[in-house]
Parts: sequence; C-alpha cells; structure tokens
Amino acid sequence: MAYRIALIPGDGIGPEVAAAARRIVEATGLAVEWHTVQAGQSALDTLGSPLPEETLAAVRNADATLKGPTATPSGTGFRSVNVELRQRLQLYANYRPARSMPGVPSRYENVDLIVVRENTEGLYSGLEHEVVPGVVESLRVVTESASERIARFAFETARQQGRRRVTCVHKANILKLSDGLFLRTCRRVAESFPDIQFDDSIIDATAMKLVINPQAFDVMVMENLFGDIVSDLTAGLVGGLGLAPSANIGHGVAVFEAVHGSAPDIAGKGLANPTALILSAVLMLRYLGEKEMADRVETAIRSVFTRGKVLTSDLGGRATTSQFVASVLENLP
Ligand code: NAI
Repeated sequence: MAYRIALIPGDGIGPEVAAAARRIVEATGLAVEWHTVQAGQSALDTLGSPLPEETLAAVRNADATLKGPTATPSGTGFRSVNVELRQRLQLYANYRPARSMPGVPSRYENVDLIVVRENTEGLYSGLEHEVVPGVVESLRVVTESASERIARFAFETARQQGRRRVTCVHKANILKLSDGLFLRTCRRVAESFPDIQFDDSIIDATAMKLVINPQAFDVMVMENLFGDIVSDLTAGLVGGLGLAPSANIGHGVAVFEAVHGSAPDIAGKGLANPTALILSAVLMLRYLGEKEMADRVETAIRSVFTRGKVLTSDLGGRATTSQFVASVLENLP
C-alpha cells in the first residue's frame, strides 16, 4: 500500500526545494500518495489563513509530512506556522543531526552530533503580553512532563543509534527554577539509561565548546530557544543551513523539514541548495521503516559531495538546484 505523505511546499525557496525532495523520493520507487497542502504566507494570501484547518488535518492523517520552510513576519503579523504546528500536533521532539559531509568546504572534520530540542514550550509558548506601555513580558514555560518526554526521547535516540552520551544543555545556574527543573528531570531520566553516559553543560560555555571542539559532543538535549539557536550553530559546523535536516516527532505524527528558512534573498532564482530537505526526506524514509531507500538517497548525496563537482552557490559552487538534483539522480544506486 502506498504511503500517504502530506507535502507543504511553503514560501520563498520552499516550493523549489520541496519539488527537488519529492523528485528524489519518487526516484527511489517508493509507493507514495502525495497530498499537497498550503501553509505560511502563501496560504494566507490564497486561502486566508497561514495554517488552514485542511493543512492540519492532512498532516494529522498522513503517515508523514514533508514541509518546505514557511515565512513568519518579524515583530508584527501572524504567529509562526511552525510553532503553531508543533504545539497543536504536539510534535514535541525536534531532532536535528549535524554530520560532516565529505567534500563540503568546512573548518571542521568528523563532526557527528545530534541536537534534540524541546519543541512545544519554553519561550516559544506564545504567552506574551504588554504589562503597561513600554513593558512587555514573555513567559518561559517549563513543565516536568514535557522535560521528561524530551529527555526520554534523547536517551532512546542515543540507545537506538548506538551513541554513548547525552548532554543536557541549560542555564540552571541563573534560571534556577525553570532550567533547574529541566536539568533535574534529565538527571532522573538518565538513571533509567545506565548504558548511556550523562553530563550537563551551561549554554554559554556550550556555544564556545562547540566552536572549539565540536567532536566532543554526541547527543545534546535542551529547551526550545536554546535548541533553535544551537542547531543553527551546529549546521554552520558542517557546511551551513543548506545541509541541515530536521524531524519534528510526536505520537503517530511527524513533520520533516530543513532547519533553514524561506531564504527570500535567493527565492525564485533556482539557486537553493535542496540538500537539507532531501536529507530531511531521508529521515522521513527511516521513520517510515524504509531503511534501504533512505540509505540509497543518503549514499547518492554523499557521492555527489565526495566528487565535489556539483555544488550550489552557498557552498562556493555554480550549480543550480536542478543541476544538483540531476546529479543526485545520476548517483542514486
Ligand atoms: P534563512 O534560513 O531563510 O536564510 C539565512 C541565509 O541562509 C540566507 O542568506 C539564505 O539565502 C541562506 N540559505 C538558507 N537556506 C538555504 C538553502 N537551502 N540554500 C542556499 N542558501 C540558503 O533565514 P532567515 O532569512 O532568517 O529567515 C527567512 C524567513 O524564513 C523568515 O520569515 C523566518 O521566519 C523563516 N524561517 C522559517 C523556518 C521554517 O519554516 N522551518 C526556519 C527558519 C526561518
């Protein structure tokens, strides 16, 4: 039976990289029934809502969703579609691997780490208000239940992937109550996983350590805002946002998307690097249990980079999105 995949093209470069990822998945021969739905600025313009109910229903009913980036206006306007999607569907775990790619220009080699980001609360709870003119408050919500489920996800991921260590990243020295609860909960969960080492690291020192010696990290678990920032940093360690995939995982529902945004500066020019979304599709294939298909696509991407001839402009090359896709297809075993 065909998999039901919801496809959200999104905004900016979204439709370009979504078409590329779809093309590669189709080339594997996997039986897929695609259900294309809209979200983001494009959905607001055409359907009157940035996250229409039809889109939510399609994501809920799909075996998995492949999503292009969606634009969010800064400072004013509608709330982030991503934050809303993650909260409404309780996509509580944001899985963001960063792994060096042979042939990709980067200052670092042999980086292989995973950022596990709590995806539903923290400073992204959406609880902001103006107390009096000139004074606003944003509530940073941390609950024991959400901390526990993300900690468990991190340890289970480490165990499944044969990894050795989970590091809790926090600011519990200053945020004694909120990050104190997060750290204590991670410590408690660690006791149920004696086969995995556990340590913790303060967020600011972590940023410095990541830049100096990223190979020292394995699986890292942290709250929402820290995870958002740190995962862009770790993308930079392995070649940039054009290469960084992610998965948003809930109970029976999952959305796979690149870490990057809609890149309005290069949208519509055919220049976007589709690797991040193709690698997100690889994560989706693994989630669906299609390991062999996932391995084939990943091998094809790695072959293209190892040869180093077809690189998009973010990596210093001249290839267009479609030339890159053609090269991946040629290398698909
Ligand atoms: P961005 O990730 O869109 O772009 C940052 C820089 O990286 C730009 O110079 C862009 O050209 C480059 N870049 C990003 N992806 C690339 C790719 N695949 N190939 C080549 N170059 C690439 O971040 P920015 O500019 O901060 O955000 C733009 C919009 O995207 C905003 O509205 C933001 O809210 C939204 N956004 C959406 C996300 C999502 O839907 N998951 C995630 C991050 C931002």
